[in-house]
Amino acid sequence: MMRASTRLVAAITLGLALASCAGDDPGVGAPVSIPEGADGAAVYQARCASCHGEDLRGTDKGPSQLSIVYEPNHHNDDAYRWAIRNGVVQHHWEFGNMPAVADITDEQIELVIDFIRTQQETLGFER
Ligand code: HEC
Repeated sequence: MMRASTRLVAAITLGLALASCAGDDPGVGAPVSIPEGADGAAVYQARCASCHGEDLRGTDKGPSQLSIVYEPNHHNDDAYRWAIRNGVVQHHWEFGNMPAVADITDEQIELVIDFIRTQQETLGFER
């Protein structure tokens, strides 16, 4: 468990790093480091939930992952891999661009895609 003060210092350091290289990125969804041994749900909560919602249903920064737009025939797993690695230029919605997700391993990407697909199957798509 990280102490609160350590976490604050880490957050500030990260904030400075982002501010110095992110250009016009407003800093939404500032990355939270992924805990060691995180499963797909934990990776999602650390890196996706700030925009796509803790419940996957979206926020004012990003769309719902349960939108029918994201069903596998329209956005397959490669689209997910691409989006996470490279970011997404706004095209479906009015939330702005999705920045590339930094500091995430290929394994964590597979875990988070599995998690989202399972949630989509369990909760069903919004229509
Ligand atoms: C800073 C906010 C933010 C974060 C963090 C974020 N996203 Fe997104 N994401 C967006 C926005 C905004 C869009 C919609 C872009 C559009 O189509 O207009 C999007 C779109 C997507 C898409 C659709 C890609 C496409 O080809 O249309 C996928 C898949 C996706 N996000 C997955 C993820 C996953 C998985 C994570 C976590 C690992 C994540 N996102 C983290 C903001 C975010």
